[in-house]
Amino acid sequence: MGLDGMARSFKNENFSMKKAFITGINGQDGSYLCEHLIDLGYEVFGMVRRQSVAENQSFRIEKLNHKITTFYGDINDEKSIWNILENVCPDEIYNLAAMSHVRISFEVPSYTLKTNGLGVLNLLEAYKHICPKAKFYQASSSEMFGNSIDSDGFQRLTTPMNPTSPYGCAKVLAYNLVNHYRNAYNLHACNGILFNHESPRRGINFVTNKIVKGAVEIKKGLRNKLALGNLDSSRDWGHSYDYVRAMHLIVNNGKARNWIVSSGQNRSVRDLCEYVFETLGLNYMDFIIQEKKYLRPEELKYLKGDSSETRELLGWKPFYSFETMIQEMIDSWMKKI
Ligand code: GDD
Repeated sequence: MGLDGMARSFKNENFSMKKAFITGINGQDGSYLCEHLIDLGYEVFGMVRRQSVAENQSFRIEKLNHKITTFYGDINDEKSIWNILENVCPDEIYNLAAMSHVRISFEVPSYTLKTNGLGVLNLLEAYKHICPKAKFYQASSSEMFGNSIDSDGFQRLTTPMNPTSPYGCAKVLAYNLVNHYRNAYNLHACNGILFNHESPRRGINFVTNKIVKGAVEIKKGLRNKLALGNLDSSRDWGHSYDYVRAMHLIVNNGKARNWIVSSGQNRSVRDLCEYVFETLGLNYMDFIIQEKKYLRPEELKYLKGDSSETRELLGWKPFYSFETMIQEMIDSWMKKI
């Protein structure tokens, strides 16, 4: 990977390709977005946070080493962001960097607020000063709604935001900052409010991949129990690849505004367990146990997003169904384990 990118300056080079800059490029969404933008003919730049185990900072984008340029940086480190934006002068900025785990945000609330809230402010300031003509995408989250639900059982742009976690509070702060910077400084800054999205690249401490991996290990005789937290909460689960395609459409809409990206279907964690174990010919009730440590001090109980505007106005449509997504995740673990 070209982590020596800082040595080059991209400012004055005459690229005909559009330049996209992605923070969090090595995460699940960052890696799919990177592939999608390369397919669309973009030159892709990314920011990677230094980790002590070097493999962890690049494994999802290893195959793309020769096609992208990455820089070490951190949205908590203003100077690093200013340096990168001055060097790259991107046409599009996708802010996917975040402390992304909701339960862990209760353990590190201050870090979460700094990274997911003030970190976005750092990036917006640099964007406003260095490349205000660029288009900006902020990874906003359905976690911002907390337990607000409209009377028809959906969440949408007008649903009140009452977050139930430090993660959700920080995301609301960032969401409002993006709206404010768009209005105050006439920037093309957009929020994509994405509901849960998964894939074989999902971290194994998120519930979908934890359940799929655990069930495959049980199927292969490697363990006989899987400990989870709350089985009664429910989520609207889609596929990360479909959702990064929406990010690109959102940024390239003529008018900057906010959008909802969701499957529009809702399933409980219990339903998810039942489906995954049944697909493997097992009964989840024989294997699932509950452990307090996976419960949250406050739980967001129910998410179901209304993405009808995004489908109608942006022409976005998911390729994956819940079933094909889970099958892909099962196949991936069956091969890996
Ligand atoms: N992670 C986890 N681990 N979740 C569990 C477990 C467990 O052992 N047992 C039950 N759950 C429940 C959680 O309590 C939650 O209700 C649900 O499974 C989903 O948890 P996660 O997969 O951790 O996702 P999340 O909904 O908290 O957050 C994800 O979606 C947000 C969008 O709404 C993350 O991707 C966030 O970054 C994202 O913004």
